[in-house]
Amino acid sequence: MNPPAGQAFDQLAATLDARGPVVLPALLLCDFGHLAREVERLESAGAAGLHLDVMDGRFVPQLTYGLVVVEAVRRAARGPIEVHLMVEQPESCIEAYAKAGADILTVHLEGLTDPSRTLETMKALGPRAHLAISPGTPVARVEPYLDACDGVLVMSVEPGFGGQAFNPAALAKLSELAALRSHRGSAFRLAVDGGISTETIGAVAAAGAELIVAGSAVIRSHDYARAITELEHLARSAA
Ligand code: DX5
Ligand code: ZN
Repeated sequence: MNPPAGQAFDQLAATLDARGPVVLPALLLCDFGHLAREVERLESAGAAGLHLDVMDGRFVPQLTYGLVVVEAVRRAARGPIEVHLMVEQPESCIEAYAKAGADILTVHLEGLTDPSRTLETMKALGPRAHLAISPGTPVARVEPYLDACDGVLVMSVEPGFGGQAFNPAALAKLSELAALRSHRGSAFRLAVDGGISTETIGAVAAAGAELIVAGSAVIRSHDYARAITELEHLARSAA
């Protein structure tokens, strides 16, 4: 039996507060022929939560997976899951992903017509409500929603594919968001996604990232536990 959305996130938040930044492995490049086994391997390797990339082939070029796979991951996972929606009109499917058991729902600001309303809807459904911004979207666009959202995910690659090179422009955005948060006394969490490796994780943690998504750096390693431990060690030393 999985804990309710709020409770699973509270465990993740407690880990963050006690130990510093956490790595959330992205499943995108994992072996989908053995999905439940991959979930089990990642959680046994110490993953504090899992990141699921839902792409519709329209908002981004690639089509990945949808509700059925998210539900399967939910059944297999013991810890929290983040659903990163890279879809057109995300408003039309947030209820379904909330019911599928997302602990964090992350929607792209660029795809929303009424961000305040969407954030309210997401929070009322149970999951934490995070806003993602693509590399071309300035922090100023998300600023009006910083008190209404639970987190901001700064994309450090163009959304759409795993294994791309880190875009260092994300560092200035993370620093700007961290400064805004302390200035305003807001409580949103800072997240980053794309191109995270042993080379880049220290810089994003130093800039304020707390939830650090890592796809290829974990999945393409031979030893998930070693990869997660090393990445988190580097992040926590730099934070
Ligand atoms: C890209 C996705 C990422 C991706 C990360 O659109 O949002 O979550 O899986 O993969 P890496 O860490 O390989 O860039
Ligand atoms: Zn993602």
